[in-house]
Amino acid sequence: MNSAIFTSVAYLVGTALFILSLHWMNTPKTARRGVFAGVGGMTLAIVGTMFTPGIENWLFIAVAIALGFAVGVPLSMVPLTAVPQRTALSHAFGGIAAGLVGTAKYYLWLNEAPAELTAFRMTAIIAEILLGYLTFTGSLMAAGKLQEVKWIPQRPVTYPGQNLTNLALFAVAIVCGVILIVNPTGYPFLFPVVIGLSLLFGILLIIPIGGADMPTVIALLNSYAGLSAVAMGFVLDNKLLVVAGALDGSSGLILSIIMCKAMNRSFANVLFGAFGQVQKKVEGGEQRTVKSETAEGAAMVMEQASKVVIIPGYGMAVAQAQHRVRELFDILTKRGVDVKFAIHPVAGRMPGHMNVLLAEADIPYDRLVEMGDINPELPQTDVVLVIGANDVVNPAARHDKSSPIYGMPIIDADKARMCLAIKRSMNPGFAGIENELYFAGSTYMLFGDAKAVVGEVVKALSGGSGMH
Ligand code: TAP
Repeated sequence: MNSAIFTSVAYLVGTALFILSLHWMNTPKTARRGVFAGVGGMTLAIVGTMFTPGIENWLFIAVAIALGFAVGVPLSMVPLTAVPQRTALSHAFGGIAAGLVGTAKYYLWLNEAPAELTAFRMTAIIAEILLGYLTFTGSLMAAGKLQEVKWIPQRPVTYPGQNLTNLALFAVAIVCGVILIVNPTGYPFLFPVVIGLSLLFGILLIIPIGGADMPTVIALLNSYAGLSAVAMGFVLDNKLLVVAGALDGSSGLILSIIMCKAMNRSFANVLFGAFGQVQKKVEGGEQRTVKSETAEGAAMVMEQASKVVIIPGYGMAVAQAQHRVRELFDILTKRGVDVKFAIHPVAGRMPGHMNVLLAEADIPYDRLVEMGDINPELPQTDVVLVIGANDVVNPAARHDKSSPIYGMPIIDADKARMCLAIKRSMNPGFAGIENELYFAGSTYMLFGDAKAVVGEVVKALSGGSGMH
């Protein structure tokens, strides 16, 4: 097989593997296969590229692969709670790669073969560098916000005329880009201007967006990185890049739409709404009280119940309580209690966060019920056990128009006959607001670390009579 045919076949199989990979990611059962298909597709893409006619020296490719491993292996070892910012960093790498390739190609052709700078190629190069560089700085900012880097404000920073300034800046970048497309060699000094404006725009784009919206924005940046890869594919005349970039771009966009829906927000609201800025404090003269319960008491209540719904949230992830939760599930199920898990689409800090943790603890997947399906069952539920969830069960989202989470669909924990809530203190969750669920007449708090408290409940149940 000559090398050109080998490359084409490798690219074709690689493309198929990328598509299958996304398809298999659809359900947790096949997700692992999806990951392997993605890795296989990428390996074929690299090997195919090494055999591309005209590539004679593999040294740079080898150095790039070694560098990729040096950065990628430690990145893959971050704890699950840091995956959103890790993902943002990956997009930053994708963005800068596209930006640099576009830059290199422009200067190469400008100096050696200006006739190659056709209007089509220039359009692709400009799209590539605009999207690539803004994805780079935007993703770095997003990762910094989620990692709570000190010098990057977590809360949205707004000032008058902000959106207008940002849009004007972007418009200037586009005008410079159009001039370069029309006359690629006449005003080469505009090229670094476009780069500089894109880098700046990426930063300014993220500044007014609060931490709670970061995952949506990261999914959106994912789609920008994908689109810049599509443009790069056109510049390099590489079909695999075009397809992979398009898959990346569209899946990122779909994910951000799903997340917007889950939080009942619009795109415009996420990008320009400065969510998370309002730090509402529930004042009100009277001191509201909460009731607390012991692990033994909670064990007794759940043992007597016929139906228990567990609502996990970010706190379960922090405490790494999923294995204890599995023990609790086993012990209750053995005693004939019907136990289900209510999954909110944005519980935790990344899409699918709860699903991943519960799957890791081997909780049967058919016990996980989506928010829309579990809510109608909650009024007939004896006990809901909230484990480190806060915003996703806050009834204020349903009725308090002044609340920053107003309109976000929630799991109706307050409608169950009794609510047991595990958390360490009365501190708020991500949105920074008080939760009236904890003050409700039917709610009892179990204060402490989720892993420890669930462990105590399991102990109390194991030591109990076992009668039901
Ligand atoms: P949160 O509202 O953030 O509440 C988590 C609660 O867990 C906190 O109130 C905290 O209270 C408790 N907690 C923390 N560590 C704990 C531990 N070791 N043991 C027991 N409890 C612990 O979580 P949620 O209900 O899952 O809601 C998610 C929020 O994050 C939403 O506002 C969502 O919009 C936002 N968000 C979601 C995503 C995605 S895509 N899932 C990404 C970013 C942001 P104590 O400190 O008192 O223990």
